[in-house]
Amino acid sequence: MTAPVGGDLAIETRGLRKTYRSVRGRAVGVEGLDLQVPVGGVHGFLGPNGSGKTTTIRMLLGLVRPDRGTATIFGHPVPRRLPEVVGRVGAIVESPKFFPAFSARRNLSLLADAIGTPRSRVDVVLDEVGLTGRARDRYRTYSLGMKQRLAIAATLLKDPDLLIFDEPTNGLDPAGIREIRRTMRSLGDQGKTVLVSSHVLAEVEQIADTVSIVARGRLVASGRVADLLGSGAGSRAVRVRVAPDDVTIATSVLETGGLLVRREHGALLVEGLDDAGAVNRALGERGVWAHELTPLQPDLESVFLGLTQHETPGAPTRGRRRRRGGPPDPPAAREQPSDLATEVGA
Ligand SMILES: Nc1ncnc2c1ncn2[C@@H]1O[C@H](COP(=O)(O)OP(=O)(O)OP(=O)(O)O)[C@@H](O)[C@H]1O
Ligand SMILES: [Mg+2]
Repeated sequence: MTAPVGGDLAIETRGLRKTYRSVRGRAVGVEGLDLQVPVGGVHGFLGPNGSGKTTTIRMLLGLVRPDRGTATIFGHPVPRRLPEVVGRVGAIVESPKFFPAFSARRNLSLLADAIGTPRSRVDVVLDEVGLTGRARDRYRTYSLGMKQRLAIAATLLKDPDLLIFDEPTNGLDPAGIREIRRTMRSLGDQGKTVLVSSHVLAEVEQIADTVSIVARGRLVASGRVADLLGSGAGSRAVRVRVAPDDVTIATSVLETGGLLVRREHGALLVEGLDDAGAVNRALGERGVWAHELTPLQPDLESVFLGLTQHETPGAPTRGRRRRRGGPPDPPAAREQPSDLATEVGA
């Protein structure tokens, strides 16, 4: 696992555990989770469906009681001392309720009155989420993305230091996702701490400074995104293009050399190598010349798969483990992050 991020912590949990009663006995929601979220910046809380993200967030906010373990927000133990710190925390866990027939502005004004925040904040937060132009329209005429931005605006009313967003881009189209991402990044740049959960790793990769990756209720990796991507846990691949007539021989040469080769859009994706030059050398020795050789950067998804895909249910999931022998892992690297985020299968 990558070394924890130093400095002050906005959120820290130790050995946090939560089980739920189910028809088949007890289902584990979170299994001994140690989380460290540094103060300031965007922290991605990532993991596949059912890995315990919402359960963790609900425990932090005092909505669910942990069976075991401790949690602090800005050093205050929660839920015990939550009242002392709750004024510094804004969160969206469930869809917030707004009056459909009222405008965004009126909805937020009512909310500001209810929480004792000056109404002057309303226009500030509407501007922050880019809703100024539609502020006088009724809530029921809003698109899903606008509704979500209004929800974020509501959490900003009291100018919190910590924002917790549970899958804020669920159900949004790429433009809506980009809007929310931009808002979260701007909050992080202002020095606020943003904890954003997602099962779509690529979506958060682009804006997160640090991440925690969970699987089956446990932490499997944490740290700075750049460090995780360079940790070697993701797959390294090279895209190779050769003349169409050479594709078969090139594939055979590389496979004979012990590499995994896949054809993709007329190119060869080559996995399982430490040195891209080895591809060039092997092909050149057989008189095949590559006219493209592009090393592909591992992304968070491939790091995540590298850390979790060989686990068997019930096995400990902490730390990085590598399978011995057997075929190489399927490639999951890509050259550029995509706006059309990839969902992670558990
Ligand atoms: N109220 C509940 N009763 C029983 N089991 C629950 C309850 N809430 C969550 N769980 C179980 O706990 C585990 C973790 O669920 P949780 O909702 O925290 O995951 P998640 O990471 O937020 O998933 P998703 O990405 O789908 O939102 C799952 O196996 C889930 O079925
Ligand atoms: Mg969830």
